[in-house]
Amino acid sequence: MSVERTLILVKPDGVQRGLVGAVLGRIEQRGLKLVGLKMVQMDDALASRHYEAHVEKPFFEGLKAFMTSSPLVAAVFEGPNAVQAARNVMGATDPVEAAGGTIRGDLGLDIGRNLVHGSDSPEAGERETAIFFEPHELIAWARDSERWIIE
Ligand code: RTP
Ligand code: MG
Repeated sequence: MSVERTLILVKPDGVQRGLVGAVLGRIEQRGLKLVGLKMVQMDDALASRHYEAHVEKPFFEGLKAFMTSSPLVAAVFEGPNAVQAARNVMGATDPVEAAGGTIRGDLGLDIGRNLVHGSDSPEAGERETAIFFEPHELIAWARDSERWIIE
């Protein structure tokens, strides 16, 4: 069981729709521990850095325009298998394909407005966390409920 960190973004559509609490709450309720949180206005450079794997893709310009159009909320969650656990809570990239009970499956309709980003590997979790957070902005705190969540 590896302890990982994952970067979660409540994308501009989630902030505009008043779903910050709903999105982060579902990940928090899964049992992952919040260790960093901030509101960010993305610019072109930050979008290109964060989505560096997608800069050549046909959807990149639209994705960049969307991600820079309005503020987002960035959070870092930590826990055993945090990357996969969060992605399971988020659901498939296209909300139409996402299972009911997931964030995208319950709250989204369109792949270009899919509410939430989550890192896709532990390495991406570390890389993306470093893009959004300085080391001192990540809080190592003792959660009193820990033993009721993780054996
Ligand atoms: P994310 O990185 O945002 O967590 O989403 P993901 O891993 O589920 O999907 P990814 O393949 O990394 O794609 C990044 C974001 O680009 C938009 N997209 N649009 N129109 C399209 O075909 C298309 N494909 C991807 C989505 O907003 C997706 O979340
Ligand atoms: Mg991705």
